[in-house]
Amino acid sequence: MPRSILLVSILFTLFSPFTTAQQKSTDPEGHQWWQHAVFYELYPRSFADSNNNGIGDLNGITSKLDYLKGLGVDAIWITPCFPSPQVDFGYDVSDYENIDPMYGTLGDFDQMMGGAKQRDMRIILDFVMNHSSDQHKWFLDSKSSKTAQYRDWYVWRDGKGANQPPNNWLSTFGHAAWTFDPTTGQWYYHFFYAEQPDLNWRNPAVEKAMFDVTRWWYDRGVSGFRLDAVDTLFEDPGLKNNPVLPGTNQYGDPNMDSKYNTKLPEVHGVLQRLRKVADEHDAVLIGETWTKNIAELKNYYGAHGSQELQMPMDLMFMTVDKLSPPEFRQQIATVDSAGGWPVFVISNHDKPRSYNRYGDGRHNDQIAKLMAGLYLTLRGTPIMYYGEEIGMENNDPTRKEDVKDPIGKIGWPKDKGRDGERTPMQWNESENAGFSQATPWLPVPPSYKTHNVEAESKDPNSILNFYKSVLTLRHKEPALLEGEYVALNQNDSNVLSYLRRYKNEAVLVVLNMSSSPQKVSFNLKPQGFGGRKATTLVSTGAPTGEVNLSELSLEPFGVYMAKVSK
Ligand code: NOJ
Repeated sequence: MPRSILLVSILFTLFSPFTTAQQKSTDPEGHQWWQHAVFYELYPRSFADSNNNGIGDLNGITSKLDYLKGLGVDAIWITPCFPSPQVDFGYDVSDYENIDPMYGTLGDFDQMMGGAKQRDMRIILDFVMNHSSDQHKWFLDSKSSKTAQYRDWYVWRDGKGANQPPNNWLSTFGHAAWTFDPTTGQWYYHFFYAEQPDLNWRNPAVEKAMFDVTRWWYDRGVSGFRLDAVDTLFEDPGLKNNPVLPGTNQYGDPNMDSKYNTKLPEVHGVLQRLRKVADEHDAVLIGETWTKNIAELKNYYGAHGSQELQMPMDLMFMTVDKLSPPEFRQQIATVDSAGGWPVFVISNHDKPRSYNRYGDGRHNDQIAKLMAGLYLTLRGTPIMYYGEEIGMENNDPTRKEDVKDPIGKIGWPKDKGRDGERTPMQWNESENAGFSQATPWLPVPPSYKTHNVEAESKDPNSILNFYKSVLTLRHKEPALLEGEYVALNQNDSNVLSYLRRYKNEAVLVVLNMSSSPQKVSFNLKPQGFGGRKATTLVSTGAPTGEVNLSELSLEPFGVYMAKVSK
């Protein structure tokens, strides 16, 4: 190669924004793709059924990519679609490098991936790293004898005596976390169901095999993983008993502080090393991080300069379970100042739907818009849950014999399980909400007649069209993409207001969390915006066009967004 061309190509490699050491492309503010993306969690069993057997599948997802693109989704997180006995509906994986035939084939996966790429969308998979299925070949070998090749890939211990487990640890899904296996006379540990034995992350061979799984999927085009149950990867090797607390839980077991089998510090080393693998692929790691306080959340970003998860979910935000401006204000401020990139979620496949959790039974549609106005406009990345955009409601089983989720069977009637938040996506008003021509695996709630994609697409005031307009803004307003979060009127206990401020402009967001009309006034001089005028961007009620910020009227649960400039 002539020397001049060689020099140009070296300079290009060194200085191009697209060819940094880790192949990361960033915007002028240094943000990476996942910081501007809107994520959408979908439950493949329940999204769209292409072969009409009552269970959703990958080809169903592919057929809905245009819908997702039109909605404003950039990255789709698909909950586990790998081969599985489906005891925990996919969270019991029996082969990490394949697709469950119920959902299709690897060819279907590649086609879905191609369709997503064509539309400039990304696919994220669920990485169930704490445990496998008891039908995984590793566990089948592990249980076969004490000297089996994979014996040490799981956590085996002697009991304390006849019929006595090694210690008092409980499964989070009810009863002892240990199951006796007569073949070898030892007990194996499972934080979840007995069919989900915990992998032994203290064994380096487990780490290597599991990291290779992520590489395998990166090579197939996935852009990252949501890491399942990271809190539970490690247990105290001395098996100390957990402290017992007063009272019993919904399964009738004693309450316990799971001090010795959750949140052990060793997890951080694994996450740091997993992050290195992700960085080689410009991929994102999203954590199912059930943290109690901000210090715990900060650790998941990576303390002491180390890199761990780019996107630990702020699930504390989801536990603010009422429309309380002071509580949201506090939680937002805390996570906003934690030094990482916030991740906001209001619903998922383990929690009753936001429509019911926040709804008051009378203004639920309006409240669904209010919540969208909140989590889609904060500084950070939102993760939507399928159906939230049309106001899908929870549909809990009414009889024990209809329950599919084992938690609901064990916990009935105190805990009805998670079926209610996993019902089929509501596409139209035809039978089974257009999800399938066969009887769906879970029944659709009666509200599908009014709350479905087809009907809401035609209604300019629908929840769906509200989501679309906020997501459109979010993609194009520099202040919503790049701007800092500035809390306003912090003593107001009815209305939550804030600015997203970027250079000479800002977007003002005003959310009336009360059931009565409210009047608010803003003086944005201290924030650098002297004028009192603003231009409406989104409004669910009266204020439209140019408005005067010294007196703004909001309808009950009203949402107002405006642009202000210097
Ligand atoms: C968390 C997942 O979100 C939940 O659905 C699952 O049951 C457990 N982890 C076990 O994998």
